[in-house]
Amino acid sequence: MRSHPGGEAHSRRLLELAALPPGASVLDMGAGAGETLTLLRSLGYAARGIDREPRAEDVESGDFLHAPFPDGSFDAVISQCAFFVSGDQRRALREACRILKDGGKLLLSDVFTEAPEAPLRAADFEILYAEDMTAVWREYFLEALWRGDRLCCDIPKGKSSYWLLIARKDG
Ligand SMILES: C[S@@+](CC[C@H](N)C(=O)[O-])C[C@H]1O[C@@H](n2cnc3c(N)ncnc32)[C@H](O)[C@@H]1O
Repeated sequence: MRSHPGGEAHSRRLLELAALPPGASVLDMGAGAGETLTLLRSLGYAARGIDREPRAEDVESGDFLHAPFPDGSFDAVISQCAFFVSGDQRRALREACRILKDGGKLLLSDVFTEAPEAPLRAADFEILYAEDMTAVWREYFLEALWRGDRLCCDIPKGKSSYWLLIARKDG
């Protein structure tokens, strides 16, 4: 799996750290080709995934900046390398918070151009765990350049970092 830095190992790490209850409802925001969705279902979670350009049949079409779900719909939201790419990371964080149940968890890996505390707090999240994965992301980015892949967005070079985070919705 190469569609986000750290691949399946990072998805499994997020799930291990979050320690979700068996059968928890989980939404993958920016599910892409659905690899994480498949992983979540294989682990027994009630998982759904949305993407504005779904690349698998079981990924639903939808814009996570206007997430098509009522408030408090999910026990957890996972998103890997998608909120920053959307162009409005802060709005994506607010939408994730809105559709989570109180106390629900956000499992996030993403690019940040500032320390993650401020944007997470602004969206009403409390950070439970944070790990700087910038070195892994840099390697992923260089490999993509080397392969000649089309990069999905402009990264402010030298000023950004990549974090793996577990956060809880306040309330
Ligand atoms: C780098 S890919 C990561 C895909 C997937 N999370 C993975 O790890 O394999 C970023 C994904 O975010 C999706 N995306 C970006 N902005 C979005 C938005 N506003 N709503 C839904 N999906 C979005 C893109 O279509 C793309 O599939």
